Amino acid sequence: MRTPIIAGNWKMNKTPAEATQLIQELKPLVKDAKSTVVVCVPALCVHAAKQAARGSKIKVGVQNMHWAASGAYTGELSADMCKACGVDYVIVGHSERRQYFGETDETVNKRALAVVRAGMTPIICVGERKEQREAGYTDALVEYQTLIALTGMTADEVKKVVIAYEPVWAIGTGLTATDEQANETIGVIRAALARKYGKRVADKVRIQYGGSMKPSNVDGLMKQPEIDGGLIGGASLKAEDFARIVNYQE
Ligand code: PGA
Repeated sequence: MRTPIIAGNWKMNKTPAEATQLIQELKPLVKDAKSTVVVCVPALCVHAAKQAARGSKIKVGVQNMHWAASGAYTGELSADMCKACGVDYVIVGHSERRQYFGETDETVNKRALAVVRAGMTPIICVGERKEQREAGYTDALVEYQTLIALTGMTADEVKKVVIAYEPVWAIGTGLTATDEQANETIGVIRAALARKYGKRVADKVRIQYGGSMKPSNVDGLMKQPEIDGGLIGGASLKAEDFARIVNYQE
């Protein structure tokens, strides 16, 4: 009942010319995709990506956005800018932003609210670090990160967000959560949503897994009932790999 969503997170990779090439390669390979397909590109590549994606079902997203309408926020993007350039999705609160750029649960909430209010879809990232999992805090932490990120949204707005469960220890490391670990923690997130917003809302929210998702493990992960897609870093930079993930075997 939930349409899966496979999103690439290109991080700080690709020039506009390289973006054009990657999307051109991708287009024929994902034309029969049953899931929503998104590429979250560097902001300077949005224009090239939109042009290249024309006539396909590939949606374009960015990797961060500010909550203010405009003003003295050097280095940031506003909702109006994103909308005017045809952006549909915005990654919010990626662990690399939390780790290197001082992103907090409160700023994640402000950004996510601004994305939703502008009619775009936030992909809100949550996930525990290795020592937090080992100490047994995973469930409490992801629940807290999720509910704080959604503060101030109506139930109708919550239905439309995408959440990416990304254990920090699995990002870019080649380590993946097992199918069961990922399914279980995503189930914890959904249960928290159900308690706060009701089961009907929780059943609508798409929750992705992210962290070293690749052609060799996508099928197992996507067979899990709670996992509605993936947020893919490294493997989204090669058309063949990303297409294999998009076309996962059910
Ligand atoms: P990875 O990155 O697939 O390279 O582990 C995932 C992410 O950071 O979203």
